Parts: sequence; structure tokens; C-alpha cells
Amino acid sequence: MKGIVLAGGAGTRLYPLTLSISKQLIPVYDKPMIYYPISTLISMGIREILIISTQRDIKLFQNLLNDGKELGCNFYYKTQSKPNGIAEAFLIGEEFIGDSNVTLILGDNIFYSPSALFNFNKDISGAHIFAYHVADPGRYGVVEFNKNNQVISIEEKPTKPKSNFAIPGLYVFDSNVVSYVKNLKPSSRGELEITDLLQQYLQKNTLKVTKMDKGTAWLDTGTFSSLMQASQFVQVLEKRQGLKVGCIEESAYKMGYINAQSLRTLAQKSFSSGYGKYLISLVNEN
Ligand code: G1P
Repeated sequence: MKGIVLAGGAGTRLYPLTLSISKQLIPVYDKPMIYYPISTLISMGIREILIISTQRDIKLFQNLLNDGKELGCNFYYKTQSKPNGIAEAFLIGEEFIGDSNVTLILGDNIFYSPSALFNFNKDISGAHIFAYHVADPGRYGVVEFNKNNQVISIEEKPTKPKSNFAIPGLYVFDSNVVSYVKNLKPSSRGELEITDLLQQYLQKNTLKVTKMDKGTAWLDTGTFSSLMQASQFVQVLEKRQGLKVGCIEESAYKMGYINAQSLRTLAQKSFSSGYGKYLISLVNEN
């Protein structure tokens, strides 16, 4: 299974273009936003990760994350020249994907779950996505279920949502995804829509949707308020538990990608901050 993080087409900018960098580089509480989706992929057992951002910002992501080897991973980088839609990530990543299955995560989506985050079959055939109950479904892709919990419709940002179940920005696909994206036509807003891609799987009866349980937090950072709330959420949790959320070094260590010595080396780099001390505490705890 390979992974793609889509981080910052021009469509996802919070700030005016002239003064902004991709928001996935700015911190959510104590670490850059992109750490959260990367740590989610790492915790899902994914080590080959393609990061896609704009021509202007890709170097910043590269400076931040390097080649991933220190985390026992391989990170690759590609650019999206225009905000042509989420589904374009699979065309940009065609060579990277090859004949592997692939998980796409949006760079501004934060997941927190007390138990194993996503139970999915890595040998998936078809697509596997998730549904999360929200108060404001109209901001998202929305999935509608019938009484038997079967999916009957999927709509992108509907003005009259047919359910409260939003589709979080985490999608698992088999390797057919690239050829399916090639069938897509840009939507009225000129984008290759992820929901149109999901429709193709739905029509072929190969779309699996799992409802996330109540205990899981899915946060997005699409507005100034939700960005602030995400920081507050992480702060409250980290202060209370003394444990970090979205710590890529910890995730790699827990997955056994790196050993205690490598974690210690990584900790030295940020020892003057609480972050490095936290990494050392993980080694000492064991
Ligand atoms: C995108 C997708 C939408 C999905 C959402 C999750 O919307 O188009 O289907 O529910 O991400 O964050 P965007 O955030 O780009 O408006």
C-alpha cells in the first residue's frame, strides 16, 4: 500500500495568496499541520509516501520532511500546477502508484482515535472510504445510506444534504484508480472531483464505506475557526495526557520502522524544545 498526501493546491489557501504559504506548513498547536496526516499514514502501516504541493511550496515541504529515511520511510515530492481537483493527485502520482493500492489523505485533515484508527484490508479491491457524522454536512462530500446501511448516494457539498454523514479526506483505492480518473471530466467548477471518482466505484458496486465511531475525532482546518479549534483540541488532549497527537517520529517508532537509537538521534535535533524531550521520554518509558 502506498500513500499520497495532497498538501496545498491554490484552492485550499486560507490566507490571501500574496502573503500565504500552504496552510499545511503552519502549525496546528505544536507541530506543522502536515505532520498529522503523515503520522496517520505511518500508523496505517504506509511507508512509501508521495507529497504533492504547489510549485512554490514543494521545496518547503522537502526541507521540512526530507527523504523520510530517518523515519524508516521514503518520501517523494511532486507538484500540482493548478488547483485541478483532488482526483488529479492520482494522475500526478501515476508512476509512483504503479500497480499498488493507494491511500490518499488530504493535508489538512486531522484524525484522532483512541483505538486502531482504520481497519481496512490492504489487499482491497475497489475503494474504501469513511463516513463521519457532522453538524454541517453541506461543507463536505456527503454520503447517504439506506436502512440496511447501504450507500445510495454521494454528493459534493450539497445545498440540501441528504444525511449528516460527511466523507473525511482519507480514501483507500485499488490500483484501478488511475484509469478511473482518466474517465473523469472536470466539474462545473473546473475540477476533477473526488466524489465523481467515488461514484464510479459506487456504480460498479465496489465502494465500501465504514462509519467512524463516535470516539474518533476528525477535524478539518478549512476555516479560521476550525483551524483554531483543531489547535485547541490538540492542546487540551496533549496537556491532559502528556502524550502527543500527530507526532511522526513517535508513530514511526511505535510501528517499529525505527529503533530507540534512531529516535534518540532525532530527538537531539529538537532537544531544546519540549518536542525533543518528549521523544526521549518515549525511549525511556520502554
Ligand atoms: C474536500 C472534498 C470533500 C471532502 C473534504 C474533506 O473538500 O471535496 O468531498 O469531504 O475534502 O475535508 P474541500 O475541503 O477541498 O473543500
